[in-house]
Amino acid sequence: MINLITMDDFDFENKTVLIRVDFNSPLDSETKIITDDTRIRRHAKTIKELMDKGGKVVIIAHQGRPGSHDFSTLQQHSKVLGKILGKPVSYVSDIFGEAAKSEIKKLKRGEALVIENIRMFLGEMKKLTADEHAKSELVKNLVPLADVYVNDGFAVSHRAHASIVGFPVVLHSVVGRVLERELKVLDKVKRGEEKPCIYVIGGAKADDAESISDYVIGHGTADYVLTGGVIGQLFLFAQGVDIGDINVRFLEKKKFTQYIPKIKELFKKYDGKILLPEDFGIDVNGKRKDITLNDLPTSYSMFDIGLKTAKKYTELLKTAKIIVLSGPMGVYEREEFILGTKRVFEAVANSDAFSVVGGGNTLEAVKKLGLSDKISYISTGGGALMEFLTGKILPGVKALEKQHL
Ligand code: 3PG
Repeated sequence: MINLITMDDFDFENKTVLIRVDFNSPLDSETKIITDDTRIRRHAKTIKELMDKGGKVVIIAHQGRPGSHDFSTLQQHSKVLGKILGKPVSYVSDIFGEAAKSEIKKLKRGEALVIENIRMFLGEMKKLTADEHAKSELVKNLVPLADVYVNDGFAVSHRAHASIVGFPVVLHSVVGRVLERELKVLDKVKRGEEKPCIYVIGGAKADDAESISDYVIGHGTADYVLTGGVIGQLFLFAQGVDIGDINVRFLEKKKFTQYIPKIKELFKKYDGKILLPEDFGIDVNGKRKDITLNDLPTSYSMFDIGLKTAKKYTELLKTAKIIVLSGPMGVYEREEFILGTKRVFEAVANSDAFSVVGGGNTLEAVKKLGLSDKISYISTGGGALMEFLTGKILPGVKALEKQHL
């Protein structure tokens, strides 16, 4: 595990603590109410520890991206946090102006304040170096009020944003409990020392799927990659299987066919290590019909893997010591097409392997199937998880490491 200064190494009594968390949560598209508070719950433990240790806790977080449907203030996040903690948490709709500064100065030991969505500060997401971010208005205005910075936001530590990399340049900084645990657990998974290690890659993130497969098989971390969802179709198509115009058009519309040359290379390099679906659930006028490879091409949309594929994957998953699950096997949102995801996810949940799950859709499917308690480790990260597992150094972690120099 990377050697970082932890929360055990600092006396928080009566100190003003800036803590960066990742409260970014799914919001109902109409009511804009938080539909899943998992991340807030996870960070609440770190925040409580800081409050119990006498800290005056200033919480920095984001919700959505500017312009996106889920870009919002953090008022409701502060209320949800207050409920979880069983204590009121204050909120100020300001980041580093006079209103925010005055609320921060008013904090008493053991109290917490959520400042406004950090992405409302235009400099937050600018492509700058850590030293440049350290000179931002955000850092310049908040550092004089603070004694220490805690980065607890694993899920956002793959972003070199001002609130992630700027503070550690100029303020004593430590790793928070959530980030510390993620690094500890995922470091073992990343090394893939226990064999077999199997990655299950479904969903529809084509660029990620190609690069993850290349990294984990190429580095000997994973023994097999099992594909499903749109990724399964894309990989099949790259292997020369005619999946039917309607499905090809979908891949083209999403610009996924650009990855085909690279995927072909993967098959050449890693013969037999990448497994493809052999049967499918197709959507015939709103009803599921199951077909096999022999029935292709089809003039209907492929929305799931079939039972034969799920059985083959299940047998292999029974032998695994480590499983990383990323992406559903089909359109799990529709009852007719949840079957493949259900069978494969149940196989992961019931296996003796150490299983790791992360990412919005995958987590939602795991929850929908009632399997959350049977997964060994649920990461708070989506993009950050995959970047970490594919050997990238997360800028947020790098910024904390520099504290040692
Ligand atoms: C996430 O939800 O993965 C993190 O909060 C990062 O969000 P971003 O992809 O908008 O930077």
